Amino acid sequence: MEKTALKNTAAVILAAGEGKRMKSAKPKVLAQVLFKPMIDWVLDAAETAGVGEMCVVAGHGADMLTEHIDGRCEVAIQDRQLGTGHAVMQARNFLLAKAPEDVVILYGDVPAIDAGTIADSYNRHKAGGFAVTVITARVKEPFGYGRIVRGKDGGVKRIVEEKDASDEEKRINEVNSGVYWFKTRALLDALEKIGNDNNQGEYYLTDAVKAVCDAGLAAGAYELSDPSLMAGANDRAQLYALNCDARERIFASLMSQGVTITDKSGVTIGPDVTIGRDTVILPGTIVRGRTVIGEGCVIGPNSLIEDCKLENDIIFNASQAYKSRFASGVTVGPFSHIRPNTVVAEKVHIGDFVELKNSNIGVGTKVAHLTYVGDSDVGKRVNFGCGCVTVNYDGVHKHRTKIGDDAFIGCNTNLIAPVEVGDRAYTAGGSTITKNVPADTLAVARSRQENKEGWVTRKRSKKS
Ligand code: UD1
Ligand code: CA
Repeated sequence: MEKTALKNTAAVILAAGEGKRMKSAKPKVLAQVLFKPMIDWVLDAAETAGVGEMCVVAGHGADMLTEHIDGRCEVAIQDRQLGTGHAVMQARNFLLAKAPEDVVILYGDVPAIDAGTIADSYNRHKAGGFAVTVITARVKEPFGYGRIVRGKDGGVKRIVEEKDASDEEKRINEVNSGVYWFKTRALLDALEKIGNDNNQGEYYLTDAVKAVCDAGLAAGAYELSDPSLMAGANDRAQLYALNCDARERIFASLMSQGVTITDKSGVTIGPDVTIGRDTVILPGTIVRGRTVIGEGCVIGPNSLIEDCKLENDIIFNASQAYKSRFASGVTVGPFSHIRPNTVVAEKVHIGDFVELKNSNIGVGTKVAHLTYVGDSDVGKRVNFGCGCVTVNYDGVHKHRTKIGDDAFIGCNTNLIAPVEVGDRAYTAGGSTITKNVPADTLAVARSRQENKEGWVTRKRSKKS
């Protein structure tokens, strides 16, 4: 979704809960869906929707969560988890300072809520002139959710929790997603009125809805067309379900944009990945982070690509790449490993069992087999024979290797960095190059072959 702007708004994201059933050392909201922590899904959705300032309410694992948020937004601390209403109260100073008109309340463990829903529900909230707009859904199994109690006029009156509901109320199948838009002023007033006289002894945010109505203000509802958007994760099985749902949504969206997925087996594509039309994704392929893949590529099988940029018509087969760039027409693999900060120019061929790291590889260069190129600047149309190594590490420092255009690096060459090979220069197979090789020069750096004739016969006659 294109970024919009919702004027005078803010977001409060509840994330203090422990998530005991996750059985994790980390706070629940750091659990990942498609390799992205749930809290980041929520922050990204709010930000894309155009919400102004954001505040996360942290409690369990607050240190770890604060470290993860790393100054991206404010963090309010809720020392004891006394309920969702109490959690929002911890953001009171934030609300007074940063939420001039309206605030959206979100959960850090409900990651599928998308920017479109946040923006659409805001528009409904404003158009209806509501003091609170509850995001609701009609579900087949309402068990466990707060139920939406509507009045005779159809308007929202209050929300009743499962544990406090009468049998009749339990039959209501419209449930509270836990996401709301509030007029900030109405929310702050309502929070002063709510108590904890209920089955769980908690300060329920849901009671703020009734308090708003009691104050004579209007409450509205925004019904989700897809109830799976409000799914949360309390344990690993639910986390798995969130992954499955998110994965399918991404497949559907990619296919609608002209991407082919021949077989979903083992394919996972992250939410921040973009892929161009006519690109084919083969089984066993994970594409994640902020990866951009162009048109007409074939990716996989069995590949992992993270935070990379791939242009068009690239073949990437059974290999892994991290934080690197590949220009059009490149082929990679099978079985190669491209480590961070590698820039591969047009029509380069990277074959099997090749490792590249922190290097620039010029147009049309071939690194076909069993080769390590690290901390190197390689020119155009260079040919690496089999089994070459840029020896970049002396045990203390890393050094660079520079290779000119049209150079030919013979099989099993070791280039002891820092070292330069000039344009069009050759290194003889098996050479260990420690000195620069000027342009148009052949460097031979190995001991001359000596044939000891009859040596084997003499050795054999000694034995007998
Ligand atoms: C809440 C709603 C319920 C709704 C459901 C949707 C209330 C009283 N009930 O129920 O109507 O249908 O969500 O999922 O609000 N949290 C804190 N601090 C606390 C308590 C909770 O930060 O003191 C956070 C949790 O980490 C979680 C979220 O608030 O992210 C919801 O809390 P949870 O206990 O799961 O609420 P429910 O009982 O499921
Ligand atoms: Ca819950």
